Amino acid sequence: MNELQDLYREVILDHNRRPRNFGELEDPDRIVEGVNPLCGDRMTLYVKLDGDTVQDIRFKGTGCAISVASSSLMTEKVKGASLQESLKLFEKVHDMLTAADYDDSADLEDLDKLAALSGVREYPSRVKCASLSWHALKSALTSVDDKI
Ligand code: FES
Repeated sequence: MNELQDLYREVILDHNRRPRNFGELEDPDRIVEGVNPLCGDRMTLYVKLDGDTVQDIRFKGTGCAISVASSSLMTEKVKGASLQESLKLFEKVHDMLTAADYDDSADLEDLDKLAALSGVREYPSRVKCASLSWHALKSALTSVDDKI
């Protein structure tokens, strides 16, 4: 295992052990339930908006290390971002997780720690684990009428 893979593994373990933004949010503007059909694990995403900005975001639920780490990394990255930035990030992560010809070097700077999820692409059965919270995010943000 090379150094970069070690680093990615560390990021995932850390976010699984100490998930950021875990728990319920008081008075959220959006609540979205996500379920991984392959394993039945569920997560709930809470989003608080301030105009076009994701003011606060939290999640709770059960899942494997990849799913928890992905949710944690997602909330960390999206908190304080605009709706447009968050949706753009969804597209980038979706590409990273699913595109067969994805070029890792292209978005590394933007993705930052999210690049730790790139290895999941090699394991099709885990892609849904990593993308669960991202689909919930997209669903939460695109249900905001007239804001995007
Ligand atoms: Fe259930 Fe990963 S095995 S979310």
